[in-house]
Amino acid sequence: MAREKWGSKLGIILAVAGSAIGLGNFLRFPVQAARNGGGAFMIPYFIALLLLGLPLIWVEWTIGRFGGGFGHSTAPGMFHSMWEKNKFIKYFGVIGIFGPIVIFVYYIYIESWLLGYSFFALFGKYNACTTRETMTAFLRGYQGLAQNEHFSGIAPAYLFYLAAFAINIFIIWFGVSKGIERACEWALPILFIFAVVLAVRVLTLGSPDPAKPENNVINGLGYLWNPQWAKLTNAKVWLAAAGQIFFTLSCGIGVILTYASYLRKQDDVALSGLTAAGTNELAEVILGGSIVIPAAFVFFGPTEIGKIAAAGPFDLGFVTMPLVLQKMVFGNILGFMWFMLLFLAGITSSISLAQPAVAFLEDEFNLSKKKASMVLAGVTFALTQPAIFFIGNGVVDELDFWGGTFCLVLFGTIEAILFAWVFGMERAWTEMHAGSDITIPRVYRFIIKYITPVFLLLVLGFWFYQEGIDFILLKGAEKGNIPYIIATRLMLVVFFVVLSYMVWRAWKRRATPTTGVGANQYNQSNVGRGNQ
Ligand code: ALA
Repeated sequence: MAREKWGSKLGIILAVAGSAIGLGNFLRFPVQAARNGGGAFMIPYFIALLLLGLPLIWVEWTIGRFGGGFGHSTAPGMFHSMWEKNKFIKYFGVIGIFGPIVIFVYYIYIESWLLGYSFFALFGKYNACTTRETMTAFLRGYQGLAQNEHFSGIAPAYLFYLAAFAINIFIIWFGVSKGIERACEWALPILFIFAVVLAVRVLTLGSPDPAKPENNVINGLGYLWNPQWAKLTNAKVWLAAAGQIFFTLSCGIGVILTYASYLRKQDDVALSGLTAAGTNELAEVILGGSIVIPAAFVFFGPTEIGKIAAAGPFDLGFVTMPLVLQKMVFGNILGFMWFMLLFLAGITSSISLAQPAVAFLEDEFNLSKKKASMVLAGVTFALTQPAIFFIGNGVVDELDFWGGTFCLVLFGTIEAILFAWVFGMERAWTEMHAGSDITIPRVYRFIIKYITPVFLLLVLGFWFYQEGIDFILLKGAEKGNIPYIIATRLMLVVFFVVLSYMVWRAWKRRATPTTGVGANQYNQSNVGRGNQ
């Protein structure tokens, strides 16, 4: 089966940028910045970008293109190609399929709320909610957590979920170039236009309440950006910055590996990786930082804004922002733009999360793209049901912990060590620069080899100690939620074991016909592209 390829260089850059630009940029980032030291947060943030994010981006693009040369689009095969003598390394690669699917199953549900809320905004369905309490009731009704005058059951949320799910599967069904690339070519420009319109609107708000002139945009920006230097001594702030870099760049997930596997041997990875990461940073720091917090500050003032930031990204996105936008002229249209912007940002991320699993089935089990998409649809549909029906019982938090936090850092650490220490820095550096449009500063040889792995091990260790252990031991979990959390963990364990078994089967199948033939075929296809 001929491997798919990207249609153009811009196409893959947009696809990777689309994967990176997501809810993290517009909701998670401003909340993290506001909670963790404002302008001071940007110091650990940029250090993490330079020492963790960028190196990992280059590592992933390079491993992906290298593995693609062996006919592999996912981590098990890629890791095996990099360390052929080790029989177990491919099982570590399972995390690069498992993690993105775990994120996909809850991410897509949240994405579907955004689709729903786009319509609600446009048709004024929540216009009657003018306080935080009533808007929160609206959200809880929609999520099926309460029955009230707004919603009497989960049916509307379920219908929007089905619609968002169908759109995702539809795009994936059309494949890398005709599906993902085209979707990103459309979605990203629209998303940027909406974000710029909203940012300009917020930044020109001035001080709308004459009775409270101090509630103005400048003070709103100050709330977000004034440095609180004292916070820099707190390890949690550094962890939060590193976590945000991982999440926002979509690194350590496995999706960049898969996207880069569709590159040709001589396609550049160094400049493309940098450009995609730069586009994400523009969307995050400039646009993400100019919308929600300044807008909420202007309308709610300095006392309330602290509570709003503390209540987290969902509160900000689904409760505060609709209230704020409602107060502006053309509020319904602005509300629609806000939710549609997030929906588009979400969908370009979720299709990337699904792609490793589809590619795994195509490459290792010779399934057609359409069959692979159907298997993905069936499995993810089943896995999402607990997230929908037991959202009030800690299921989404549990999925987010394993998929969106733990696996990311663990997988990033494995990749960095494998790349620099097993594959070897000399080879790695040459591979990185094959077909490259830029030369990466030499200092990155040192950073990738020493600083990034040590930084990652420290992040993993500190995070595990500060948050991980308590979470794993269910400390602080509500008693009534414990059975649901344990059931979710069992579901994840079974899913991981099944994926590992599939890897075992795939390698067994490959070895069966005549010893080594399968591997030789991969090597030959790779040599043909000058990949050794
Ligand atoms: N990188 C994606 C986001 O920021 C997952 O939402």
